[in-house]
Amino acid sequence: DKAGHKHFMAKEIAEQPTVLANALSAYLTDGGIHFTDEGLDFTKTERLVMVACGTAFYACLTAKYWFERIAGLPVEVDIASEFRYREPPIMPGTTALFVSQSGETADTLAALRFCKDRADRILSVVNVAESSIARESDVALPIHAGAEIGVASTKAFTCQLNVLLLLAIEAAHQRGRLSDADKARMLDDLRGLPGIFNIALDRNEIVRTVAVAISEARDILFLGRGLMYPLALEGALKLKEISYIHAEAYASGELKHGPIALIDNTVPVIVMAPSDSLFDKTVSNMQEVMARGGRVVLITDAAGAARAGHDVWKTIILPEVSEVLAPILYALPAQLLAYHTAIAKGTDVDQPRNLAKSVTVE
Ligand code: M6R
Repeated sequence: DKAGHKHFMAKEIAEQPTVLANALSAYLTDGGIHFTDEGLDFTKTERLVMVACGTAFYACLTAKYWFERIAGLPVEVDIASEFRYREPPIMPGTTALFVSQSGETADTLAALRFCKDRADRILSVVNVAESSIARESDVALPIHAGAEIGVASTKAFTCQLNVLLLLAIEAAHQRGRLSDADKARMLDDLRGLPGIFNIALDRNEIVRTVAVAISEARDILFLGRGLMYPLALEGALKLKEISYIHAEAYASGELKHGPIALIDNTVPVIVMAPSDSLFDKTVSNMQEVMARGGRVVLITDAAGAARAGHDVWKTIILPEVSEVLAPILYALPAQLLAYHTAIAKGTDVDQPRNLAKSVTVE
């Protein structure tokens, strides 16, 4: 049931305020965060190893910034198909964390099994609570996204980020890196996120006009720094999955180390950059692109748009959010951009060619 939408993907994008709110009410109590009745102890955790595929892997890359910055916890992130055959040493004190919408991805499950007798503990963040990955974990945390039908993952990504951020906040608090007041403030910010998503959904029409403008391109670059780098990767993946346009993402600082050679006026460059502490660096990257004729689409907030100058080709302005929450919100324009570009190209949005919703073979 597409609930009045043309595609499952559109429905699932639009559902995000609701499912995020549901997930928050499942995990938040008056006193804080409730994961399990036994509680989840991070005080003895020395390192986190996070493993996943595709979009779930990008959720892990985002969470690495959170765990390291907020909780001071060293994190390694790996693609499941690489991790499982590399068979890396797992030190005592390691918690292994697997992220999977379906909970059935073959490589992620194999990586989990490799860690079973080696890691102190196996955690998973899943959408399907009865899945193999959930069953084989010590603790499986549901993301409460509801069934996701569209092959391109949308609401599962933001709901994965939501649970991963809750974990990072809890770990930071337990490890004495976050005061009671700071924890309460971050949770309050999170409670406000579904409302902000609702406001951001109103940007649908402007994103659609940008999508029409980029739909003729053969190649598209996505750039992001810090927490926005994994979002750039996710934006590029989403776009290539359903519009079949070649899209690549780079960390903005890597531009001069190679990809700038690709820039000319046929290559739109999507820059994802809220006006955070790294914004000025991103502005100089954009200037480098524009000086070579590159057409910049800037996804930012009002303050960022004001600081970006007049040469930006198109700007998508999102509501302001804290630096920590920005990656969850910035997933939305990336999803809408891919969706509307696919519509403009007339491709099959929900069932893109060559792809399966759940990759249960290697
Ligand atoms: O079910 P999983 O989260 O384990 O799936 C992982 C990837 O196959 C999945 O995220 C894939 O990359 C999506 N099609 C992305 O939109």
